[in-house]
Amino acid sequence: MSDYQTHQYDVLVIGAGGAGLRAAIEASGAGVSVGVICKSLLGKAHTVMAEGGIAAAMANVDDRDGWQVHFADTMRGGQYVNNARMAEIHAKEAPERVRELEAWGALFDRTKDGRILQRNFGGHRYPRLAHVGDRTGLELIRTLQDHGIHQGIQFHMECTVTRLLQDGDRVVGAFGYDREKGRFRVFTAKAVILATGGIGRAYAVTSNSWEYTGDGHALAYHAGADLIDMEFVQFHPTGMVWPPSVRGILVTEGVRGEGGVLRNSAGQRFMFDHIPDNYKPQTADNEDEGWRYCQGDKAARRPPELLTRDHVARCIVREIREGRGSPHGGVFLDISWIKAHVPDGEAHIRKKLPSMYHQFKELAGIDITKEPMEVGPTTHYAMGGVRVDAETQMSSVPGLFAAGECAAGLHGANRLGGNSLSDLLVFGKRAGEHAALYAKRTTQGEVDGGVLDRTAAEALAPIERQGAANAESNPFAIQHELQEAMQRLVGIVRLESEMREAVTVIAGLAERARRVSAPGNREYNPGWHTALDLDNLLTVSEAVTLAAIERKESRGAQFREDYQEKSSVEGQVTIVIRKAGDGTMRVTRETLPPLSPEHQAIIDANTA
Ligand code: FUM
Repeated sequence: MSDYQTHQYDVLVIGAGGAGLRAAIEASGAGVSVGVICKSLLGKAHTVMAEGGIAAAMANVDDRDGWQVHFADTMRGGQYVNNARMAEIHAKEAPERVRELEAWGALFDRTKDGRILQRNFGGHRYPRLAHVGDRTGLELIRTLQDHGIHQGIQFHMECTVTRLLQDGDRVVGAFGYDREKGRFRVFTAKAVILATGGIGRAYAVTSNSWEYTGDGHALAYHAGADLIDMEFVQFHPTGMVWPPSVRGILVTEGVRGEGGVLRNSAGQRFMFDHIPDNYKPQTADNEDEGWRYCQGDKAARRPPELLTRDHVARCIVREIREGRGSPHGGVFLDISWIKAHVPDGEAHIRKKLPSMYHQFKELAGIDITKEPMEVGPTTHYAMGGVRVDAETQMSSVPGLFAAGECAAGLHGANRLGGNSLSDLLVFGKRAGEHAALYAKRTTQGEVDGGVLDRTAAEALAPIERQGAANAESNPFAIQHELQEAMQRLVGIVRLESEMREAVTVIAGLAERARRVSAPGNREYNPGWHTALDLDNLLTVSEAVTLAAIERKESRGAQFREDYQEKSSVEGQVTIVIRKAGDGTMRVTRETLPPLSPEHQAIIDANTA
């Protein structure tokens, strides 16, 4: 231990996005010592990419809303493979978490009578997203940081965790290194909370920045935790497609919530052609009605652009594949058309969507108040992750908790927009509370010095490996090939033969990753960082692919060309990924518990 810089906490939080910060605040408030590890700089988290708002049934704009409707919407959006208890807790507790955020200083947009303003979003029956223009995630992070920083929480920025430390089964800390100098760090803790976000960097086109390499998913997996729902990867319908350097950057669903429409190259609003039967009763079938809905007409039905993300993304892919796409391989998203209906339309658009206005003006030279944007699907969110207890967020491994995107259960087969921010507030708080309780009733476990030395040696191997640097052993090349393969073979539309090809590609890349080389030294060595991320990326890619092969149906974000319908058999199954004793990845099926009569009754009463 003396060879490593060590830090000791009651509760260690890995990840400093919304879930990690909210968990840290709660644990610290419970009187235990808390350390937070942040792979990047504080404030830089994928949370800021949830731009359009926080879903919470506050009923500020439509008094018909309530937790039961939010619960039913979340279950329907998730195609009923969600953990219903988590969906219930989430819907009930989200409004209180938003009010608390406001009390801590978040400055939400307001209704005319001074309440928190809420906007429409896909799959939400009523205007439900509390928002700050199109910068809601940013305001959430700012508020939590300001609040947390004064609570005595210790932050370790630019630090990457490579392994969880265990005493027997129990997780008792983490091993990592600081990215600047490459010095190893040992963190001991009575409880560890994973809040590392998603896996977007396993794909070539993504809204996720470089940090999102599935670290928490892989750390939990190697520690023996179950991963579930890994087949469900969300492709947000609208990312930038042009210019190439910004491909994948998010274009908020708030654009459609404010009246933006999707058109193909023939100028048609193609979404009207593809309203699924189970949404027909709630979805406008003419343009005028859709617009009236966006204007707050309670009698109008929602425009088809506000159907769930899985559905909208598939419709966009179809337009592109069938030759009706935009010049750079997307479709058109137009908010400028609302100028004809809104006084001082250009100023209105800039006020509602300030980030989108600047993003397109500066990155693409497009003025969205005057012309349409070109957009296409982008890998945005993992519904799958660490299996956790609905009440406490503890995983199947003692002492290990997870919250936010790296945890699974709430969203089922597809997440509704805005439910990520409420998820991380609701379950981040719960994880912090229960990790603190756990820490108070336990003692610090033992850390094995031999394990530390082996982990350090493994981490150093890419630097120490001598020999010619070539594409075979280049970490960037391996990462790039993985991203291209996942995009092509395990993307929005899936086929067993292609996914089997992906399994072979992943195995080949894993073999190369074992010989990866990052010449240089430990200081400022980006090749080394990428080499160390590879195991995580390969682990989550294999998990996504094997789970997607196992689920033989189309449901939510998983669309299979060879099984295009939902199956009543597969719909009762959870796919579980676990590390077997021989180190291989095991896939098993478990029967989902049936919905309780109470939950079923709420769904029946709130689903047209
Ligand atoms: O489109 C968006 O603003 C993203 C929101 C989310 O993912 O929740």
